[in-house]
Amino acid sequence: MSEPIPAVSQGDTNPIPRHIAIVMDGNGRWAHERGLPRTEGHRAGARRVKEIARTCMDIGVSYLTIYAFSKENWKRPRAEINTIMKLTDFFYRREFRELRNEGVYFVHLGDRRGLPRSVEKVLDSIERDNTEKRNLVLSIAFNYSGRSEIVRAARLVAEEAARGAVRLQDITEEYVGRHLYTSDIPDVDLFIRTGGEMRLSNFLLWQIAYAEIWVTDTLWPDFTGEVLKRAIDDFGKRERRFGGV
Ligand code: FPP
Repeated sequence: MSEPIPAVSQGDTNPIPRHIAIVMDGNGRWAHERGLPRTEGHRAGARRVKEIARTCMDIGVSYLTIYAFSKENWKRPRAEINTIMKLTDFFYRREFRELRNEGVYFVHLGDRRGLPRSVEKVLDSIERDNTEKRNLVLSIAFNYSGRSEIVRAARLVAEEAARGAVRLQDITEEYVGRHLYTSDIPDVDLFIRTGGEMRLSNFLLWQIAYAEIWVTDTLWPDFTGEVLKRAIDDFGKRERRFGGV
């Protein structure tokens, strides 16, 4: 990406969050309430992403990051995993193509190793099809783990130090931040979790250091642009001190 963005927030107090991250939880419960298989909840959840991306653009949010598949999600039943994998294809062919024309720029966060070749291909083609426009940078965490991301960055930095490319005193927070998947993306301002659980679930552990947390009982497939606006409204009322007084 073109201009460098500080890896660590510099005390931003804008009432509109620059970067929103969402744990899209509650798809299974949404399906269960309707007597449907869990996979239908994920389908409904994938359809919701487009509206939320558009609301972000309307409001002036520049970065949206969503948690679509964690490394821990491999423990789920095979049929459920297959459905989530297939949804990347649906998302690319239908939803992303529309969003791209509206200026959405796609980024993948996570490990490509271990993903089926078909999913890798989809991720490659979305990245290839990105245009210069960046009304919204939409990052999809897929096969992602916050701790693994930090370990990966530590290895990259250690490798640079071992071959003398960096001095120990130059390894700062900013330097480490540049070795994360989110190297070109600013810290998270607003961390939203749907489905009511009070957990971080290994999502963007480094990047949420000073994020405001907003949890709603609304299940992800019911999370509309209106609910997002409520979250942003609440965010605007928070006093962010970044460790100060
Ligand atoms: C958590 O709900 C949701 C997931 C593990 C998957 C989220 C994936 C999508 C919404 C599909 C989007 C895909 C793309 C590529 C945009 P849960 O199943 O844990 O729900 P529960 O807590 O009610 O059981």
